[in-house]
Amino acid sequence: MSTTSDGLETPATWRRDHHNDFDLDSVEFNEEYESAIDDLVARCPVAHSSVGKGYHVVSRYADVRRIAQDWQNFSSADGYQPNRPEEMPPIYPDECDPPYQTRWRRQLDHHLSPRVVRSYEASVTEHANFLIDQFIERGEFDVVSEFASVLPSRVWFNSFLGLPVEDLPPLMDAVEQALVGPIEGRTEGWGKLFSYLDAHLKKRDGEEPRDDMMSAVLAGVELDEGFNPSMGGGPADAKIDMGAPCPWSHKVAALSNVTAGGLGTATYLIAGMAQYLAANPEDAQRLRDDESLRPQAIEEFIRAFASVVAMARTATSEVEVAGTTFQPGDRVVLLFPGATRDPEIYENPGEIDIDRNFTVNAAFGFGPHRCIGSHLARLLGKVALATMLERLPDLTAAEGNEPRYLTSVTREVSGIKLSFTPGLKLGGE
Ligand code: HEM
Repeated sequence: MSTTSDGLETPATWRRDHHNDFDLDSVEFNEEYESAIDDLVARCPVAHSSVGKGYHVVSRYADVRRIAQDWQNFSSADGYQPNRPEEMPPIYPDECDPPYQTRWRRQLDHHLSPRVVRSYEASVTEHANFLIDQFIERGEFDVVSEFASVLPSRVWFNSFLGLPVEDLPPLMDAVEQALVGPIEGRTEGWGKLFSYLDAHLKKRDGEEPRDDMMSAVLAGVELDEGFNPSMGGGPADAKIDMGAPCPWSHKVAALSNVTAGGLGTATYLIAGMAQYLAANPEDAQRLRDDESLRPQAIEEFIRAFASVVAMARTATSEVEVAGTTFQPGDRVVLLFPGATRDPEIYENPGEIDIDRNFTVNAAFGFGPHRCIGSHLARLLGKVALATMLERLPDLTAAEGNEPRYLTSVTREVSGIKLSFTPGLKLGGE
């Protein structure tokens, strides 16, 4: 293919017209990822997909921000995913609007606030060192399966929820199935996560409340306008008793929402940083020598390895964005890596520049749904970077290093193999 159906020339490498035949779950979008996103930002601010019921894709920073902030005209109450399977149970606060969404955020935000997250730094460092101990004598590791995916998951499970890390492997698979697996299997993925967390929430319900995330979820919130009772197969005409305590299912939905974030998002960041350190030894040395460079560098890594790719909204009125008029009911996907790669905001966005200075990180979104886990993601980035710099000093690509990507609502990577001069275990867990 060399032109789009609206007559624009496309890169010769494209095998799909991402302007008019966009598909978030396609092999082509996964493989032509950066080039497709950059082209959408440059020339097609509102792309179109005819997959399933069809949807629009908005990619520029200003448009993504505007829609994410305008929850009155762009609702989240029909779900985060285009062509969402009807029977998929809703998750909160993701799949509802204010004021109900605000109630959940007020209830949960404190437990992921900068101050609370900071108090976990020592425990995150312990987890990171424990994991590095498992491979440091070998002098090489599979970055994702031995470090980048297990670190966030262990931290979330063990430190934040107090759940046994032995239970993690099937749940990490379930989150992957729910977020990037084939669409037909996503309800099943969420179902596995819901049923595991439902059982643990019930167990904690019989115990004394604590000052933690589980107890905050258990305390629940009052029902309010902003959620869609028919999502997940509920009756469309259900009578909602506003002001009554939310049902048990909403609590499981809230714990599942934060857990999917806790397990499924920081991996891409940590893996990306490891790859960057291996490919840029001079920058690695600068970051090793000068700790003051690290906070801004981490912000840049979060921008460059933005793991949440696309979240949907539904237009609730006739509204125009970047020359396209949406009709009520139209599904609109916000492409966050478009916003993070918009040259209007970030000069040479395709380049990773650890000295880049900016204040708003579009990778975490905007408006009421802006990421609740951003401080935890930053802490995970900080600890992962520090422990890799200190303990794996000369990272380099190893034999069999063949990164493979998978893209849908989130972007995932696997197959990164790096080597380094073997070192000594620190011991203990
Ligand atoms: C680098 C890592 C991360 C990135 C890039 C990221 C990105 C995002 C983005 C773009 C949104 C906005 C979605 C929207 O507008 O519809 C979001 C929301 C959310 N994130 Fe994150 N996230 C990350 C880490 C985390 C972590 C570690 C957690 C959990 C501890 C988490 C939990 C959530 C939740 C629950 C929401 C929904 C908030 C709401 O609807 O009010 N995220 N995230």
